[in-house]
Amino acid sequence: MNTSSCIGISTMKPSRRILVVGCESCSLFRFSPLKLNIRNLPKSQPESAFDGRSGGSDSQIVGYIRLSDRNRKGFRVSDSNWVKSKIFKRNCIGDGGYNWVSSRSSRSRRSHLIVRNVASDFRNHSTSVDAHVNEKSFERIYVQGGLNVKPLVIERIETGPSDVVKEEEASGLEEVLDPSVNVDSSKSLNETKVEREVPEIEKEAWKLLWDSVVMYCGHPVGTVAANVPVDKQPVNYDQVFIRDFVPSALAFLLNGEPEIVKNFLLHTLQLQSWEKTVDCHSPGQGLMPASFKVRTVPLDGSDGAFEEILDPDFGESAIGRVAPVDSGLWWIILLRAYGKITGDYALQERVDVQTGIRLILNLCLSDGFDMFPTLLVTDGSCMIDRRMGIHGHPLEIQALFYAALRCSREMVIVNDSTKNLVAAINNRLSALSFHIREYYWVDMKKINEIYRYKTEEYSTDAINKFNIYPDQIPSWLVDWIPEEGGYLIGNLQPAHMDFRFFTLGNLWAIVSSLGTQKQNEGILNLIEAKWDDLMGQMPLKICYPALEYEEWRITTGGDPKNTPWSYHNGGSWPTLLWQFTLACIKMGRPELARKAVDLAEKRLAVDQWPEYYDTKSGRFIGKQSRLYQTWTIAGFLASKMLLENPEKASLLLWEEDYELLETCVCVLNKTSRRKCSRFASRSQIQV
Ligand code: GLC
Repeated sequence: MNTSSCIGISTMKPSRRILVVGCESCSLFRFSPLKLNIRNLPKSQPESAFDGRSGGSDSQIVGYIRLSDRNRKGFRVSDSNWVKSKIFKRNCIGDGGYNWVSSRSSRSRRSHLIVRNVASDFRNHSTSVDAHVNEKSFERIYVQGGLNVKPLVIERIETGPSDVVKEEEASGLEEVLDPSVNVDSSKSLNETKVEREVPEIEKEAWKLLWDSVVMYCGHPVGTVAANVPVDKQPVNYDQVFIRDFVPSALAFLLNGEPEIVKNFLLHTLQLQSWEKTVDCHSPGQGLMPASFKVRTVPLDGSDGAFEEILDPDFGESAIGRVAPVDSGLWWIILLRAYGKITGDYALQERVDVQTGIRLILNLCLSDGFDMFPTLLVTDGSCMIDRRMGIHGHPLEIQALFYAALRCSREMVIVNDSTKNLVAAINNRLSALSFHIREYYWVDMKKINEIYRYKTEEYSTDAINKFNIYPDQIPSWLVDWIPEEGGYLIGNLQPAHMDFRFFTLGNLWAIVSSLGTQKQNEGILNLIEAKWDDLMGQMPLKICYPALEYEEWRITTGGDPKNTPWSYHNGGSWPTLLWQFTLACIKMGRPELARKAVDLAEKRLAVDQWPEYYDTKSGRFIGKQSRLYQTWTIAGFLASKMLLENPEKASLLLWEEDYELLETCVCVLNKTSRRKCSRFASRSQIQV
């Protein structure tokens, strides 16, 4: 019998709160990979760790104390070692036989979600069709849920205990279904979908994904970065990384499992306000950690009781002390995806969640010395979290920043206290898209222009604004750039263009419509034209080409992990597949994504789901690659599901926003500097 109870204690400043979470009937480790084994369900399922507690400023839970049943030896584990607690968890599963099912209220209730006044009324439509682009009013017809997409269901009926009993009675029928795939939920995602046999590789991937789930006080809160069975040196791969969890979250959401995503969003939100210091310095409020770990520690002064705590890493332990700038951006992107896919907009409307969005935005939008609308960051502040010469204004951060701003525009509730923020979001969005479209884009024509640039131009209408010396055009690019298509360069700073092709940034430029329609098409054309270089034998190159010889030595500092064509330096990362899939679906080219997924499918399971591949063509499993890397597994599953549910994929995309272009043009018109080149190049930034 499980008599444990959970007490949430806030250890955060300024106030300390004690909250009884009310899970007296909950199993501490109520987890099983067997999703639909309904016979094992308890009579009533506890709600999600946070369900029913809106008005979030009161619910600042960052740690739980668990008062344990003394009769259960397993509960006396006081070791903070995750592996041990995982073994313990497994014991509990065998013992208790509880299964984790999607959050189900114990009450029967009908909930209505009310759409509030948000910064941009894009909530129920991911796609806008511009009817009168050239009209002053910029009137638009919005298609709810995107083109050919069913409207979101914004009313749900939660079943009560009696329904659970009924389901238990029906369990004999249900058990024949595939154990790990939530067929019921996928049915409701798309009722017209034809049932299909789940291939073995997907079953394996689901099992591995379930195995990677991390529990916190009996609730799923994330997935570990890699779940290698015997890993003597897990470094920090046994932690939940914010960026790594995104594909896991999508897989769960698309499979009708929102609870883990909701818990993740709310728990990481609590970590945002954690008091953090690196030596004697406190990074800005609003920073989201790169990762966190659930630690089990003995409770002071009590015999046998112990507590679980969430231990975040804001970069203070990370190799190189890199700042996780992308974490907050991913968090906002995931929050919006959660609302879009589940229809549960109440989460993003909570006071604490709105505050969390604001804190992240304040950090990103605060004034500095910068001359550009792009975010200025240090090296290694994103997926590439080591020195790789991407300090300054790397494309990856800019593309995620743009996507996060577009998400925020939909989610921030407009009132007197947020109207300035909303204005800042809109201004930044238009300035940012202008800047990237105009200055980061290269194709055959543009490279030829740069090749003939004059330098040392002093004036506001200089052509070569950043004083780029034509000599910077690398020799590889001269032959590589195709006649058709182009891409956004990796970085731009005074007298510096990083011409490397960085995949994640280019894909997110497509997904978020940071690029123009024509540019977005051009990026996919380039990927297709350069398939052997960018996909090779395993999709997808993180960047192309690799830094070699002296350039590698100088730029990476001689990093033995980032040797040419390995890891971040031209390695191939299968996790990028889901983002490629989204981009292809958006541009109406799913067949390209299918080709890449098929390629990956041939090797991923055989090779034990590596983190990355090495060599120019991605032929070898990476030198120091982890196996059973969760975002490889989840990225593969998410790609498969997105291809099967393109209407769901469309909820995660953005089309061109003509209102933003108009803002840009308005500002240009008003400015006294009429010679500003932004005005002159207006045609370039429009579709
Ligand atoms: C590596 C990757 C980083 C990832 C982490 C966990 O450090 O560079 O992007 O988040 O591993 O998988």
